[in-house]
Amino acid sequence: MQTMTSPEVQAQAAQDFLPLNGTDYLEFYCGNAKQSAYFYQAAFGFELVAYAGPETGVRDRASYVLQQNKIRFVLTTSLVPDSDITRHVAEHGDGVKVMALWVDDARKSFEETTKRGAIPAFEPYTISDEHGEVTLAGIYTYGETIHTFVERSHYTGPFLPGFVARTSTVPQGAPVGLEVVDHCVGNVGWGEMNRWIKFYEDVMGFKLLITFDDDDISTEYSALMSKVVSNGNGFVKFPINEPAEGKKKSQIEEYLDFYHSPGVQHMALITHDIRQTVTELRRRGVEFLSVPGAYYDDVLDRVGAIDEDLESLKALNLLVDRDEEGYLLQIFTKPVEDRPTVFFEIIQRKGAKSFGKGNYKALFESIEREQALRGNL
Ligand code: FE2
Repeated sequence: MQTMTSPEVQAQAAQDFLPLNGTDYLEFYCGNAKQSAYFYQAAFGFELVAYAGPETGVRDRASYVLQQNKIRFVLTTSLVPDSDITRHVAEHGDGVKVMALWVDDARKSFEETTKRGAIPAFEPYTISDEHGEVTLAGIYTYGETIHTFVERSHYTGPFLPGFVARTSTVPQGAPVGLEVVDHCVGNVGWGEMNRWIKFYEDVMGFKLLITFDDDDISTEYSALMSKVVSNGNGFVKFPINEPAEGKKKSQIEEYLDFYHSPGVQHMALITHDIRQTVTELRRRGVEFLSVPGAYYDDVLDRVGAIDEDLESLKALNLLVDRDEEGYLLQIFTKPVEDRPTVFFEIIQRKGAKSFGKGNYKALFESIEREQALRGNL
């Protein structure tokens, strides 16, 4: 949901066989979308904007569309015992089914990717209502996860044809200030990372941005490997993790044990004022991972001068990292469901385009403490 601006970006897009305008929406398959919708409104500050279900003529499912600035979540639940949604929830727990990408031409996006080897999830089709028309097409990525291409240039409705506008009934406090999706991370199985990086390179025209090996990402006990791919204009970034051998169980392995397949591990959401955002999220009851106070003893030696007062970061347990272009502030929630699978990252970028490598050790030790509490380390 970002807009293209600079001429460089437009020139680059002209040569790109899969130009993307950004993330259109993230769809979660849930056991109870009505209650999940309440959670994302009350805890994360989203607003309900659209709905489809029995009241709108949909017989087998209910979907709630939530929005906060340029971030859109769709929460879908099945109304019948035997459906793809029901089976997906039984297998994976609540999880991300669709990472939808906003495109100018959904049919061409489908053709360009399937001719390069993408497995079709569904053929392109056009739907319309009084607000105009939308063309959708879908391809599979890792696990059961889908990329839906959404072409909505001729549509003015609240979400998609078939959805009606709805407004929140959940009381909201101060704005949370989440702005846009920064990146969505996938966990894949042992030895599968390079296969999926190649998928994004060859099938979707993404470029490899960064590689982390297990020396970069290991603690005393566990390890993982990670690579990050980005589309041409940088609006869409997908890190892919795989487990690595360590003395104890990798956090990626724990995810795979509970999700029962590759899938989306975390979504990073941008804020322009992380202290305000995290203060508000904490007030609303969102739980975050914490690092020991000692993290702050030498953090400024590592990252240099920053605009924020260190005590205020420490009070909120925010992490800091720097690269050649600037620094970033970040924090990670605990899993947002009972299975230790999906969580969120809140990130404020102050020039830095990287992902917080300097925090990995402290962060993963924090995750391991949580794994140990669950009996999964
Ligand atoms: Fe991240």
